[in-house]
Amino acid sequence: MKTDNREFSNKGEAFEASDDTPTNRSTEPTLGDVINARFGRRDVLRGALAVGAVTAVAGPAALISQAAKAATSRYVFDEISHGADETHHTAPGYSADVLIRWGDPLLPGAPAFDPMNQTAAAQEQQFGYNNDYVGYVPLPFGSNSADHGLLCVNHEYTNEEIMFPGLGRQDGDVDFAGMTKELIDIEMAAHGGSIVEIRRDNGKWAYVKDSPFNRRLTMLSTEMELTGPAAGHDRLKTSADPSGTRVIGMINNCAGGITPWGTYVSGEENFHGYFVGESTDAAEERNHGRYGVAGGWYAWGRFHKRFDVAQEPREPNRFGWVVETDPLDPNSTPKKRTALGRFKHEGAESLVNKDGRVVVYLGDDQRFDYLYKFVTDGRYDPNDRAANMDLLDSGTLFVAKFNDDGTVAWMPLVFGAGPLTPENGFNSQAEVLIETRSAADLLGATPMDRPEDVQPNEVTNKVYVMLTNNSRREPEQVDAANPRAESRFGHIVELTPPDDDHGALTYDWEILVQCGDPSVAEVGAVWNPATTENGWFAAPDNAAVDHQGRLWITTDQGSGWGRTGTADGVWALETEGELRGTGKMFFRVPIGAEMCGPRFTPDDTALFVAVQHVAADGTKDYAGFERASTFEDPATRWPDFQDDMPPRPSLLVIFKDDGGMIGT
Ligand code: FEO
Ligand code: CA
Ligand code: CA
Ligand code: CA
Repeated sequence: MKTDNREFSNKGEAFEASDDTPTNRSTEPTLGDVINARFGRRDVLRGALAVGAVTAVAGPAALISQAAKAATSRYVFDEISHGADETHHTAPGYSADVLIRWGDPLLPGAPAFDPMNQTAAAQEQQFGYNNDYVGYVPLPFGSNSADHGLLCVNHEYTNEEIMFPGLGRQDGDVDFAGMTKELIDIEMAAHGGSIVEIRRDNGKWAYVKDSPFNRRLTMLSTEMELTGPAAGHDRLKTSADPSGTRVIGMINNCAGGITPWGTYVSGEENFHGYFVGESTDAAEERNHGRYGVAGGWYAWGRFHKRFDVAQEPREPNRFGWVVETDPLDPNSTPKKRTALGRFKHEGAESLVNKDGRVVVYLGDDQRFDYLYKFVTDGRYDPNDRAANMDLLDSGTLFVAKFNDDGTVAWMPLVFGAGPLTPENGFNSQAEVLIETRSAADLLGATPMDRPEDVQPNEVTNKVYVMLTNNSRREPEQVDAANPRAESRFGHIVELTPPDDDHGALTYDWEILVQCGDPSVAEVGAVWNPATTENGWFAAPDNAAVDHQGRLWITTDQGSGWGRTGTADGVWALETEGELRGTGKMFFRVPIGAEMCGPRFTPDDTALFVAVQHVAADGTKDYAGFERASTFEDPATRWPDFQDDMPPRPSLLVIFKDDGGMIGT
């Protein structure tokens, strides 16, 4: 998540992205400020608020018997402590190795990383910046190999001030005046994705340099195809692409998924931030307004006219999609699957429904935006991979309406049905998909507290929705599914499809946990009382389910507003039995990073996690470091800790020192 205020910002608060910047807030202290101030003195207050802590867990979890404390955890490890410092921390008996870092050579002939002599040509052959989603496809394909596979990794965005020397800051903001075309092209090459062959030999994981599978998808040069109902529509045509079917690159790819047929799907999230200028195209006015175009986070539009909406008002319509790539074929063309809608896509986790159709769960990560699912028309064929390759081109996109009675209705976004008609600006299914948000508005979908990863559990058939926070929800906007005003720390909703049918139009839902520190009453956290001192977390972002059906959560507290004073990390979270709603802390990232991934090998002996934007977020709050990081003066030089190396976003593999299954 990009967090800095930008020189190029030309729209202001109403159009800022999903994250919060302190500059957008009232100067009046809010309840949140009070809580945040108290977090800085948690130890002092912990005792004083002991009575409040009882209040804090009032709610469903409070009904759980204290006997829960004696119940047996499904996660066997000793938890680590909250905190923040220059490096990462794993539970005792576990280790974390760096598998690959920003700049590491990936393609045959790629040069070694040289931070003082970066070029776009080098970056296009090296591992990209800000690794986020991590998928694993076993090799050989069709096997369950836990020692050999392909990692599919998103590179979400770039932190110029930490990547490049000499940019510095002006009044606390990144100084973009120094951004040249050369630097911008490096940034574009650092965005996108990587396919990386990895192997475990004698218990040690490494990536395979020069593997024929290794691939970079970049914003600078990778040609992609627009497919599905919106492909070729006039509103996708630009001067560079009169066909409306070809586009160079993907941007701000956050989370994603691996499909049942072993392709890598990736969500384009905050695409609006890459555009500058003022569009004069009246046909796109509602559209650009609803998505916050042009966000002006980057200087790309100075040198690449397609990012200037005054010149190319339809270019933003070619972003905000789910992109599907076949990692087994390094020459394949990635496909933007328009049937899955256009919004600020977080992830795209999927499963095969019991009737053979494939269901993809999708979050639109912005305050007051929506939860979606896509159900294919066709059925998955486990014996014919080729027959599955275009399943995502036809099906039905649904948006969620949460009812106070504990049910959630899935409403289809279909041209001609209900209000999705020409009178409301929709002349085809293509337009319903291009303006998915406006279509969902008309259907009365439930505005959520920033839907992030949506993770089905294939063992239990439950679905977990990460709702990371929402600074702007007013008390009168609180509803059953989004129960806190000015929700700083987020919550997790559990969905239950009837009879394990993910094609059903109505599910049940309930809140699994309300996040934040339960020892501070004002936080309003709800956890199982068995949750230990470090078992609580804030701002759930990504989730994974291991092959035993256990849920693991990673967090992204962002910078400033939502921080608790402790680092992001990985937590185990019980979902069944007396301990349901009990957290336990497994791993912690270095200062300023968020925790992405996570992904288990098929035997649960390795957990891949992505350490994103190390040294960036919240470092001003870090003891002894009273300024935001730059290339020259970062809060940490993790993971290399060399004076001539900047901090580097890195992909880690976590394993048990005895080689056993994680959490057992
Ligand atoms: Fe890129 Fe929604 O986090
Ligand atoms: Ca994030
Ligand atoms: Ca995310
Ligand atoms: Ca996930």
